[in-house]
Amino acid sequence: MTNSARPGAASRRAFLKGGLAAGAALAAGSAAAGEQVITEVQDWNRYSGEGVDARPYGTPSQFEAHVVRKNVPWLTSDVVSSINFTPLHELEGIITPSGLCFERHHAGIAEIDPKDHRLMINGMVEKPLVFTMADIKRFPRENKVYFLECAANSGMEWRGAQLNGCQFTHGMLHCVMYTGVRLKTLLEEAGVRPEGKWLLAEGADASSMTRSIPLDKALDDCMVAFGMNGEALRPEQGYPLRLVVPGFEGNMWIKWLRRLEIGDQPWQQREETSKYTDLLPSGKARRFTFAMDVKSVITNPSPQAPITHGRGPLVVAGLAWSGNGTIKRVDVSIDGGRNWQTARIDGPSLPKALHRFYYEFDWDGSELFLQSRAIDSDGIVQPTKDDLRAARGSNSIYHNNGIQTWHVNKDGVIENVEIS
Ligand code: MTE
Ligand code: CO
Repeated sequence: MTNSARPGAASRRAFLKGGLAAGAALAAGSAAAGEQVITEVQDWNRYSGEGVDARPYGTPSQFEAHVVRKNVPWLTSDVVSSINFTPLHELEGIITPSGLCFERHHAGIAEIDPKDHRLMINGMVEKPLVFTMADIKRFPRENKVYFLECAANSGMEWRGAQLNGCQFTHGMLHCVMYTGVRLKTLLEEAGVRPEGKWLLAEGADASSMTRSIPLDKALDDCMVAFGMNGEALRPEQGYPLRLVVPGFEGNMWIKWLRRLEIGDQPWQQREETSKYTDLLPSGKARRFTFAMDVKSVITNPSPQAPITHGRGPLVVAGLAWSGNGTIKRVDVSIDGGRNWQTARIDGPSLPKALHRFYYEFDWDGSELFLQSRAIDSDGIVQPTKDDLRAARGSNSIYHNNGIQTWHVNKDGVIENVEIS
């Protein structure tokens, strides 16, 4: 910092020294290159850039081109009935940018002209109804932030650490602000008959995916959403209309929503509900495990985001969520769960939404076993993977909310591991 900083005042010098003390110790080698960037006039400082007509719909900086959803080719036999993953290690705060929300389709992305979209409510109702999109937009709206987690998130990790990166172990997860109409409002319009206890939601895509939802839930906080993060839903997320089932497994959030049928029992045979069960060691299966359990993961550092700055100040960042409500506390361990420190939750704490947590400490360069453990507003504590297996065995695919461990070696390289 000697010749370029041209310190004018003692206070400024002190600020620069104080502010950069940590960085200076870490990056002796890169300091010289860094100096030129600030002392020499750069192209972007010399020439005007593109005008206001160049980017009518903005996209991220070209230097962020690596921040993308990714799929795992060997996981499914084709990409039409498949899944990709949110790059959690590249994100800040709690809102997932629309273009980075993971996608799960059973028959690809349906492209529907909203003029041709209809929502039908039938079955055990006083008055079967068909709504156009314009009709739906005449009902009172609400804006709510909710996470969506596929029940199969972390499903490949039941039998041991497998995928190297939180994008792949935890990336069937997004958190978005939805705009739409309370499902209760539309159901009241149709008038649910007293014997109505379940609702079958059906998508307009080629898979005609259906799921049974208890009527209590439908009348509680479900929404029919047309907006996402301030604009229309993306086609990948069910444009022009999707069901929002806060805190419940992603499979129930029917996209391209076209029909809601009221009945007196779940539609076991016809639909996916029967598949979404958790096989236990006894041979019995857990059914109707709708709510997503309390869970957390350290997103940074993590296998795809190693520590490259050497020892010294380290920001550990992560996400926590629970289908039961808010997150009360998150603990972080750097020694594989022997000792725990309370992390700092920052930003909004909204029910059934992602929570952002941080834990800052001085890394001494020794190996770490990083873990996070969330506790939700019901007081439920995220279990270890061993505890989870003791209760459920390892035949399940769904609802793996066990504590994740990242091993950090002395070079800052990180791997997905398990420790007992
Ligand atoms: N709805 C329809 N119509 N078709 C689908 O394939 N996939 C479900 C659910 N809704 C699906 C659907 C599954 S399994 C999940 S996890 C979520 O949508 C994923 O929502 P996303 O693609 O917005 O992330
Ligand atoms: Co799913």
